[in-house]
Amino acid sequence: MSSTVELDLGPLHDYFEFEHADEDFRAAVVAGLSQPQKRLSSKYFYDERGSKLFDQITELPEYYPTRTETALLRAHAAEFAELIGPHASLVEFGSGSSTKVRILLDALDAPSAYVPIDISREHLIESAKGLADAYPDLMVVPVAADYTQPLELPDIPNEVVRIGFFPGSTIGNFTYSEAVDFLRTAATELGADNGLLIGVDLKKDTDILRAAYNDAAGVTAAFNLNILRHINRELGADFDLDGFTHDARWQDDKGRIEMHLVSEGKQTVTIDGQAFEFADGESIHTEDSHKYTVEGFHALAAEAGWRAFRHWTDPDELFSIHYLRVA
Ligand code: TRP
Repeated sequence: MSSTVELDLGPLHDYFEFEHADEDFRAAVVAGLSQPQKRLSSKYFYDERGSKLFDQITELPEYYPTRTETALLRAHAAEFAELIGPHASLVEFGSGSSTKVRILLDALDAPSAYVPIDISREHLIESAKGLADAYPDLMVVPVAADYTQPLELPDIPNEVVRIGFFPGSTIGNFTYSEAVDFLRTAATELGADNGLLIGVDLKKDTDILRAAYNDAAGVTAAFNLNILRHINRELGADFDLDGFTHDARWQDDKGRIEMHLVSEGKQTVTIDGQAFEFADGESIHTEDSHKYTVEGFHALAAEAGWRAFRHWTDPDELFSIHYLRVA
């Protein structure tokens, strides 16, 4: 399943790539656009440009999650290190720019390895190199993969404990059953006696939520629209980027904020000779961001075979971090 490829990796120790065929991408896009409520999978946001736009989202004044979670990680880093113990390897699911993990690595007692897993290969290698440069004693083993699919983690010599790291409330981007599946798979991959440090965004005032997903500078809009640009480039589609607008909708009954791209007027989009009709105002649903209560998240974790060991929140109760152990 994995293969080591010849690349100039500089200080990296190894590199694992799990290939995604273009066929899968095309089939997924065509299937999604053929449904009554058109859908595109959010994993296609993250081409190189999408990854950079997402990094900009995390710095927006309206986007409280990154700032709040980072402050929590800093405030409790010593406590995490105490709970985790020495010679841990950290496995990050969807590592992006590998920024937050530095707070943990700085606090941990002689960590054995860092295994960043990300679908965006270029971004992954670039971030992993930066990290390996900054931590010369740390073994950095990047894995280019879709972490929502089961995968085999590389063997780490001298590893005492294996800890998953899943910040950014990305768990909220899964439906409830996808979240259970992911957490179950992670428990299997990490193995018995291991742990997971996970960031979970909390339910709150809906005006705060709406602003976080529809910023004044329009970065979130550009990020959402980038999925169409990515599809145009990779699949030769002809989406008119000016023909769609970003819309963030809070759905109280579902406990989630939904991202949509709304068609301005009636239009036809072609992918590979196949036509997709859009009515005026018709939307493509691109992402969900579910918000939890602490109790709600604990119930979810328990269903997936994890025991909630400890959790931390900020004084305004915007965001939570949970340390789970395999039950
Ligand atoms: N995990 C992030 C979140 O749900 C992802 C995200 C932030 C996002 N802003 C977005 C996804 C805008 C799609 C569109 O908060």
